Amino acid sequence: MTAIVDIRDLRKVYDGGFEALKGVTLSIREGEILALLGPNGAGKTTLISTICGITNPSSGEVTVGGFDVVEHYRGARSLIGLVPQEMSLEPFTKVRDAVSYSRGLFGKPRDDAAIDKILKQLSLWDKRNARVVELSGGMKRRVLIAKALSHEPKVLFLDEPTAGVDVELRKDMWDVVADLKAQGVTIILTTHYIEEAEAIADRVGVINGGQLLLVEEKDELMRRLGQKTLQIELQEPTQAIPDALAGYDLELVSGGQALRYTYDTRGESTGITRLLGDLSAAGLQMRDLLTEQSSLEDIFVGLVKEGAA
Ligand SMILES: Nc1ncnc2c1ncn2[C@@H]1O[C@H](COP(=O)(O)OP(=O)(O)O)[C@@H](O)[C@H]1O
Ligand SMILES: [Mg+2]
Repeated sequence: MTAIVDIRDLRKVYDGGFEALKGVTLSIREGEILALLGPNGAGKTTLISTICGITNPSSGEVTVGGFDVVEHYRGARSLIGLVPQEMSLEPFTKVRDAVSYSRGLFGKPRDDAAIDKILKQLSLWDKRNARVVELSGGMKRRVLIAKALSHEPKVLFLDEPTAGVDVELRKDMWDVVADLKAQGVTIILTTHYIEEAEAIADRVGVINGGQLLLVEEKDELMRRLGQKTLQIELQEPTQAIPDALAGYDLELVSGGQALRYTYDTRGESTGITRLLGDLSAAGLQMRDLLTEQSSLEDIFVGLVKEGAA
């Protein structure tokens, strides 16, 4: 897949000297759903605002569809839809007019059929003549998405689309995102919910303290997240893993001085008790036991702690 958004060593220092982005490099693939996961203050909104050309970068480069977001702002912006974190809607405008007006802002000719399609897709058709002020919070969020889609962008940014919304609506949002992906829209969303990234993303980027700590396929990330290793130090080194232990995910390490056991922390049982029993039955004496967490897990533990604080 080709990159639709390319970010090279992006830095942002706000007036006053705070460095909100510390050299972010990232390629976003056409057609993917990328979740940027990070706690409050991580720099997610700053990153999105910079890609969308709303915030100026201090250094580094961003292109969208090959257009530099600073030098060729209009070209880049025409490809982008942005659903901002903060709600910003004119209360007395009718839904359909609000969405149609947004399209006009991009210099696109009026196209009622395109607007109606978007309204239907977001289940706003019945509300097309309602005034924004009459809508529930969830419906208002849909209007924001409809406005962001009004000029038929190729890339949609959703900044914390489900922060503070109820579970029902969150699921609806996820369905909307899946629909858009099926139409070929590239979607970047920020979230501080691990479950949200898990539910909808193809890839997950973890951002904290203005740095992108990792970007990885969701499936791979989730697999690693749920895994821990246990190092079993042996009294006497062994040449090979005994056949009796073939059913375990074991690896011989430290020149036969230790066995490394990988297990899933999200499974029903770790299998450790059974393994230790089978180990002594196989004639191996244990000297010590060490558990290791993947560094990824450390990252997440850190994130979750900060998120809770
Ligand atoms: N306009 C601004 N001026 C100065 N500092 C800012 C400004 N906007 C955001 N920040 C700071 O930059 C950091 C990242 O903010 P933000 O990008 O909003 O994070 P997130 O969206 O991940 O919560 C925070 O410490 C925030 O206080
Ligand atoms: Mg934010």
